[in-house]
Amino acid sequence: MSISNLTSRISGFHRMSTAERLEAVAAFSGLDDATRAQLAAPGNIDTHLADHMIENVVATLSIPIGVATNMRVDGKDVLVPMATEESSVVAAVCNSARQCYDAGGFTTSVSGNLMIAQVQLVGVTDPENARLRILERRDEIAAICDRCDPMLVQLGGGFRDLEVRVVNSRGGPMVVTHLIVDTRDAMGANTVNTMAETLAPSVESWTGGKVFLRILSNLADRRLARARAVWPAEAIGGEAVRDGMISAYHFAEADPYRAATHNKGIMNGVSAVVLATGNDTRAVEAGAHAYAARNGRYTSLTNWEVTAEGHLAGSIELPLPVGLVGGATKIHPTARACLKILGVSTAAELARIIAAVGLAQNFGAMKALATTGIQKGHMALHANNVAIAAGAVGEEVAKLAAILVERRQVRQDVATVELERMRAGVA
Ligand code: MEV
Repeated sequence: MSISNLTSRISGFHRMSTAERLEAVAAFSGLDDATRAQLAAPGNIDTHLADHMIENVVATLSIPIGVATNMRVDGKDVLVPMATEESSVVAAVCNSARQCYDAGGFTTSVSGNLMIAQVQLVGVTDPENARLRILERRDEIAAICDRCDPMLVQLGGGFRDLEVRVVNSRGGPMVVTHLIVDTRDAMGANTVNTMAETLAPSVESWTGGKVFLRILSNLADRRLARARAVWPAEAIGGEAVRDGMISAYHFAEADPYRAATHNKGIMNGVSAVVLATGNDTRAVEAGAHAYAARNGRYTSLTNWEVTAEGHLAGSIELPLPVGLVGGATKIHPTARACLKILGVSTAAELARIIAAVGLAQNFGAMKALATTGIQKGHMALHANNVAIAAGAVGEEVAKLAAILVERRQVRQDVATVELERMRAGVA
């Protein structure tokens, strides 16, 4: 196919088999045999399953799963699988958890499994009256919602509460109904979206307005998970380290530029467990960052203080809408396996462990940043990636990585030269 014939309008692409799609992509992009073979290689889900999970599948992508050790959560030891492409993330959790293990580890809690769905109503001239007209229908609304998912109700979940807000927008006032629903061990997006869509015509008929959006809110502030832990000053290297970390926290708390990075570090841990368990990383990330800005200024998701005994106390609170049933959590065999490693039997238990991991991750980053800096530890691990990228295989990887670290030059160009030297027997 010549360049001028290339078109992204591939007729019937979605109806092709995964192999046929891969051939079409290979032809379009001029992929060589090795690249095609790489994409065709099975990961830890077969392409048949992948093909049912999303559309237009051509391949799967495997991400390493590391297991965080030393985690003690609510008096129970747990091993935590973390799926991430970033080096140092798993090691940081292991180290942070070890330093608070003897002091009891992490204590956690949750606010409940409540998700929020929004129904956006526009075109009413009397929004405050419309708001009350909707609130008066609470029992009817509860019945409409619960009829959408009798199984959920049987499991003890279902409609819990109703809020109606008047939101003044650039396009005029909107009457926004919040359905607050206990989704039990499901993340619950499908459940609450169905409820919002089912309710919409009734809201229109009660108010005379027009409903547009009917969708969950990712600011899941009724589904919070919390974790706290105390790190004895002597376990973390003394008061100077503790005070450096407190100062790092004060920085994040005061400055959104720093808070974004501070929270990114937290999400390194949170998203890794969310991904390993087949949950929706984007939902959790959107919720976390929105929650971090809930008071009108983006700030830290964690708090750090000094206890009366002089120890470092950390805490975290964030929305954690994760589930054990439904979606990839249910059908991805590796996600199921990760849940078995965790040994959790409820979504709330999973959320609590994830919150603890987020706190541990933040401790690790702040401690490194307030002392040696992160590059030392990070580069030692990153050196492996650089060595592999330079073409090192087998035992060469560790050997080449060690050379790069020792020379403090963890760089691709240096790795390439050193690998050649190694192979020539010069290094
Ligand atoms: C890197 O992925 C995460 C950190 O930048 C987090 C932080 O700065 O707190 C180390």
